[in-house]
Order: sequence, then structure tokens, then C-alpha cells
Amino acid sequence: MTELHPEMHERRILGTELLWAFGVGVLIAATLSMIIFTALTMGINPPSNVERIDPKTLHLSGEFAEHNLGTTVAPDGTVTVRFIATQFMFVPRCIAVPYGRRVTLRLTAPDVIHGILVTGTNVNTMVVPGYVAQVHTEFRRAGELLMPCHEYCGLGHSEMWATVQVMAENEFRPGPDGRVSCAQR
Ligand code: CUA
Repeated sequence: MTELHPEMHERRILGTELLWAFGVGVLIAATLSMIIFTALTMGINPPSNVERIDPKTLHLSGEFAEHNLGTTVAPDGTVTVRFIATQFMFVPRCIAVPYGRRVTLRLTAPDVIHGILVTGTNVNTMVVPGYVAQVHTEFRRAGELLMPCHEYCGLGHSEMWATVQVMAENEFRPGPDGRVSCAQR
């Protein structure tokens, strides 16, 4: 090994450090731009609305009372699905959604933290007691999709899942009250 002049040694260290700093900078920039790009073009972003709800009374009245759960089509055509994640099931156990139309999922939990995802879609959120989780999506896969709980919530966690029934436009017909439920197949 050749002995370097101390000044040369310093310079070499500085050069290596700058190279690493540049590499890390590139990685951070790439990650941030991917996040912004997918958020703007594919609607992939965290369910960030901060909406509070009292987990002790949500089943008694208001938006998440039993008669309000399930799929509703408003007079202006917007589709909203409301459901509850609780140990160890979803209420309702099956939700009906239209194919290729914007859908808003709203859910909350009365007991512990749960999580949902629907494979092949951007639906993926934590469900935290005290808060309403909200996801906007458009289902582009027809048929029955599986929606498991993906946050360990107790001994029955692995049994906790629901079905998403993606219906063609001619199947997805709201009743006089604007509600749609899963077809019995
Ligand atoms: Cu609910 Cu895991």
C-alpha cells in the first residue's frame, strides 16, 4: 500500500462521502416522485381524511347504524359503501359495487384496529377505532373479489374477510331506496 499525503487522504474521504450523499439524494428524489406520480395518475394515496367517530355509540345511530350499512346510490349517481370491521367479521359480509365507476368506501371499527385490502385494486387501509377510514376507488376487475382483514386483531383474525361483488352496469340496479345488495348466486 502506498502512503498518501494526509491532504489527499482527506480529499478521498470527502469524495466518497459526496458520492454517497448524491446516491442517497437520487434515491429520495426517485421515491418521492414515484409517490407523487402514482397519487396523481393512479389515485394511490393514503386514506388521509381525519374524521372522528365515537366507537362506543356508532352502532346506535348515525351513519354507521345497521340500516345505513351496505351500498347506497345517491340521487346524483355517486356510490358509497358503508361497513364496519369488528372482531371477527365485516358487516355486511358482502358488498356490491359497480364495475368501472367511482366508488367511495367508508368504514370504521368499534373494537380494535383492523385493516382491509382488496387484491388488485388500490384499496388498502387501516381501520382504527375512533376514526372513519375512507377510500375512493374504481373496480376494474369483474366478479367476486376477496377482502381480508390484514391487521392482526385477535384469535379470529384469519377468519375475518368479506366479499366484494363487482357487478356489471346492467346488474347493478339500486332499489327504490337507492340501495344495492349482493346477488345470491
Ligand atoms: Cu380484523 Cu384482523
